[in-house]
Amino acid sequence: MLEIRPISEHDQVWIETLLREHWGSTVQVTRGRLHDASRLPGYVAVYHHERAGLITYRVEGNAYEIITLDSLVEGQGLGTALVQAVREAAFEAGYKRLWLITTNDNLTALRFWQKRGFSLVQVHRNAVADSRRLKPEIPLTGEHGIPIRDEIELEAIL
Ligand SMILES: CC(C)(COP(=O)(O)OP(=O)(O)OC[C@H]1O[C@@H](n2cnc3c(N)ncnc32)[C@H](O)[C@@H]1OP(=O)(O)O)[C@@H](O)C(=O)NCCC(=O)NCCS
Repeated sequence: MLEIRPISEHDQVWIETLLREHWGSTVQVTRGRLHDASRLPGYVAVYHHERAGLITYRVEGNAYEIITLDSLVEGQGLGTALVQAVREAAFEAGYKRLWLITTNDNLTALRFWQKRGFSLVQVHRNAVADSRRLKPEIPLTGEHGIPIRDEIELEAIL
C-alpha cells in the first residue's frame, strides 16, 4: 500500500501546506543558503491512497543534497523508501555523494540517518544563529527541549 512517485504539479498546494506546517515556511536554510523546497524536485510517498510523505533535494557540484524529509505516518517505512528513491536517482545519474544538514536537537533524524548508511562528517557550531537571520521562524528550542544551535552535516557515499 506504499507507492513512491516523483512530485507532480498537482502536489504543489499539498507540498506548500506541509512545508509551512512542519518547517514554518517553504524555505529551508542549509550552510547559509536559502532554498525554497516547494520549488525543488523530489518524491511523494502515497500510503493507502493518501499522500503521506515528502522528500526534496537539489543537485550542485558533485553531490545531491536532501533539503527536506517528512513522514506523516511514522514507523511504516515511508521515510526509508523516500530516501532510497533519492539515493537511486543520484546513483543512476552518476553521483557519488548524497548529503544533508540536520540540527543538533533532532535526535530522531540523527538515529534515522545513521541507521540508513549516513555518517556524521561535520558539526557547524552555532550555524543556526546565522540561519535564523535568514529564516526567523526557526525556533530557539527543538526536540526534548534541546536548544537548536548547530548544523550537523551527514553524508552517504554511493
Ligand atoms: C525522520 C522521519 C522522516 C522518519 O520517517 P518514517 O516514515 O518514520 O521512517 P521509517 O518508517 O522508514 O523508519 C522509522 C522507523 O520505523 C521502523 N520501521 C520501518 N518500517 C516499518 C514497518 N513497516 N513497521 C514498523 N516499523 C517500521 C524503522 O526500523 C525505523 O526505525 P529505526 O530508525 O530504529 O530503524 C520522520 O520521523 C519525520 O518526518 N520526522 C520529522 C521531520 C524530520 O525531522 N525530518 C528529517 C530532517 S533532517
